[in-house]
Amino acid sequence: MESDEKPYRRPVAHKFPLKYLVSMGDVPRVMQEEIFQTADQMQGVVDLRSGLESLGGKVIALIFLEPSSRTILSFQAAAARLGASVIVHQTASASSLAKGESLEDTIKVVAGYSDIVVLRHEASGAAARAASVCSVPLINGGDGGNEHPTQTLVDLYTIRREFGRLDHLKVGLGFDPLHSRTIHSLCRGLGYYDSNEIVLIGPEELFLDDAALAAMTKDGLSKVTQTSDIGALRECDIIYLNRFQVERFADQEVARRYRDRYRITANDLAGSAVKLILDPLPRIHEISEEVDELPQAVYFRQAEYGVPIRMALLSLMVASGV
Ligand code: CP
Repeated sequence: MESDEKPYRRPVAHKFPLKYLVSMGDVPRVMQEEIFQTADQMQGVVDLRSGLESLGGKVIALIFLEPSSRTILSFQAAAARLGASVIVHQTASASSLAKGESLEDTIKVVAGYSDIVVLRHEASGAAARAASVCSVPLINGGDGGNEHPTQTLVDLYTIRREFGRLDHLKVGLGFDPLHSRTIHSLCRGLGYYDSNEIVLIGPEELFLDDAALAAMTKDGLSKVTQTSDIGALRECDIIYLNRFQVERFADQEVARRYRDRYRITANDLAGSAVKLILDPLPRIHEISEEVDELPQAVYFRQAEYGVPIRMALLSLMVASGV
């Protein structure tokens, strides 16, 4: 039996090494803390517009089979600041996947060319499939409507830096609870910390089902509610807004019907409890541009934190040599 064909197994709660980052379920709180502390050090390197040679000679493979700006470019920037080289496979049509090669065969081959693989794929579960055959560490860069764990580490790091704590928060998340992988992963991430309450906001057509809501409470959130009332955002400490994921919509009419209703303006937030506004971006309809000027709007800084967080992840996962 080939050693790289072991099925993907979720690790137990310990610090690094971590071989496969597929889900926020793979990153226990103690490991998150190590990532955040390492990211603080990496932020110092970025602030100096400098670099390290700690991953000199290492090769990072980026296989991005769905569009991306932030995730792919921040991984490339992170690799550059660590002295690593990058090989990139972008778009399935330019790869042998277009000839019918399986994802599994592609991953086995790319693992032979690199020290770590980052995969973005349109299908939920693709990252777990890839991890089950990958002989080197693998990071999920977003798999369909399932999860986007590195974005969540960026999101949690942003809250930690900008708000000062990750517990006892009331967080409103909109506007596509059903399809947004960043919402799914962030709910898992917030569940690791004490007494976090979430309010999911969006059109009823995009609600999560009762089983998914119950799983969130079981995963550690103190309270989970869901509403179509955008006004519920006003009562939250932190709001996390994300576009309608139209590429996963069966009926595009839903987006056309609701895109103007699910958009916050500066007026909507005047006198509200909201202390922080996050968005994983790209921003499409969900935030009116004048909101950018509010002191609570941190989404462009959030995107910048993608570099120190991904520097930390690459360092901890590659250097541990698992
Ligand atoms: N936040 C995020 O994943 O952005 P990209 O799709 O541009 O990578």
